[in-house]
Amino acid sequence: MGNNVAEMLAELRADHKNMTLLLNLLEQEANRLYEGQDADYELVYDIMRYMTVYPDAVHHPKEDRVYAELKIVRPDLSKGLDRVLVDHRDLAKLGMKLRNDIDSIMAGTALRRNVIVADAMRYVQRLRDHMHWEERDLFVRIDEMVHDGHRLIVDSVDHDSEDPVFGPEVEEQFGKLFKSIQQTLDASHM
Ligand SMILES: [Fe+2]
Ligand SMILES: [Fe+2]
Repeated sequence: MGNNVAEMLAELRADHKNMTLLLNLLEQEANRLYEGQDADYELVYDIMRYMTVYPDAVHHPKEDRVYAELKIVRPDLSKGLDRVLVDHRDLAKLGMKLRNDIDSIMAGTALRRNVIVADAMRYVQRLRDHMHWEERDLFVRIDEMVHDGHRLIVDSVDHDSEDPVFGPEVEEQFGKLFKSIQQTLDASHM
């Protein structure tokens, strides 16, 4: 909750770390399919469900609020910002497409592997590029706005809600996804 820009930015950066982790998992499953092995479709489905209920519904609107503030307060730092809305809309569309692919497969419809691989890879690439742009450019501009003394967002619309996977409580529907993430993290620390 809140309208403190520095806190919001810290949350946005933490979200990116979590999304990066999920994109790695997604890429791993897409690679399996590409190599002709079986993929864990349930895992892919859970990842994409998470993407629609948190990044699309909470993370991106939070960024939109912060960027809108920047545009009002610091037009001098707002060059090229309009592309963000396009990116967020495209990402939601690509995510929905992939989610529908997996829906069809789980419902027993035959779908060519290369369609899923292509949709998954496109999604991974697009979201990675987008986050990278934000981290090395847009978030830095927000840092500058905060540094110069603009610390609170005036707009009162608040889209905040807890992260159902990485938040204080894991929602039951995401229990399996949470376990997969833990296993991946454990394996990487071995
Ligand atoms: Fe974004
Ligand atoms: Fe972002």
